[in-house]
Amino acid sequence: MVHFEKQSMARILTGIQSTGRPHLGNLLGAIIPAIKLSKDKANQSLFFIADLHSLTQIKDSKLRIENTNATAAAWIACGMDTTQQILYRQSRIPQVCELTWYLNCFTPYPMLANAHSFKEKSHKLSDVNAGLFIYPVLMTADIILYDADIVPVGKDQKQHLEMARDIASSFNNQFGDTFVLPEARIDQNVMTIPGTDGQKMSKSYGNTLDIFMDEKPLRKTVMSIVTDSKPMEAPKDPDSCNVFAIYRLLASEDGIVDMRNNYLDGNYGYGHAKQALFELILSKFEKERVLFQDLMLNPKEINRQLEQGEQRATEIAQTVLDRVRIKLGFI
Ligand code: ADP
Ligand code: TRP
Repeated sequence: MVHFEKQSMARILTGIQSTGRPHLGNLLGAIIPAIKLSKDKANQSLFFIADLHSLTQIKDSKLRIENTNATAAAWIACGMDTTQQILYRQSRIPQVCELTWYLNCFTPYPMLANAHSFKEKSHKLSDVNAGLFIYPVLMTADIILYDADIVPVGKDQKQHLEMARDIASSFNNQFGDTFVLPEARIDQNVMTIPGTDGQKMSKSYGNTLDIFMDEKPLRKTVMSIVTDSKPMEAPKDPDSCNVFAIYRLLASEDGIVDMRNNYLDGNYGYGHAKQALFELILSKFEKERVLFQDLMLNPKEINRQLEQGEQRATEIAQTVLDRVRIKLGFI
């Protein structure tokens, strides 16, 4: 039985770090599916920019702010309606830091030591700080501070969501129902989007396609996608090619069949395929690219839309935090 008043709509929540500019993997894997879900009137959506998480890696404030604005602009350009849904910067709702501390005291050390993403990052990064270590606790707080029911994320975030449920249910077991247990929504159709080098596209691997870039650098990035060195005339295998792997995520059924046949027939070079991909990105994201550029020239407008969301996010966060303080004897 739930001992607190729960809102009737399903609450959808997800966040994206501002460690770089959003890329095609973020768009197809997170932003676009989450916006689609938010159009359902039965849902209430909260989307945030995880700038406190970014601080684990980015210490340059100017750069972090630029990335934060670019991430907000990407959400808005991709169709998020900030008058209906709540878009906010994680750092502007400091209640999340207080909740993180409480949750830290309920999180077993070995759970964090076993986190895949910490293990991976601690091998890769030179700055292995305590913030990185408690990342899953802050992420748990991000979610349960807003009574989120559904959290759309990519496959790589599955373990973090399991930890969030574990931490929340261990608190509930000790103190009675306090938190909603969140469910991960992992869209099996959205596979891991490959980057320009064929590995998972990620800001931290420097292999991203930033579809909001100006045409010239965008074309240069597309042309840099790694392929084998088969000559133009030779037939090619579409299924082992990075260019085709990205093209098929964006193209129509007919477009995919055409490019597949071009590969198999030969006399079709990787340069041709890359040019087709470049043109497809421009046409597919034409509207989003214009909106994004306009917003980036107008940071005041981005800020206005964010502040609107932050007011509403604060109200929800404070209600949940008060519930926790009462349970813990801090009120
Ligand atoms: P990055 O790896 O570039 O730092 P984030 O960790 O900020 O990306 O990811 C933000 C969201 O975008 C997450 O839900 C994540 O699962 C999704 N995402 C990131 N990269 C990809 C990808 N290559 N394919 C599919 N989804 C992705
Ligand atoms: N860890 C997520 C990522 O790297 C970003 C994130 C932070 C998040 N807090 C969240 C995602 C809460 C969903 C819910 O992709």
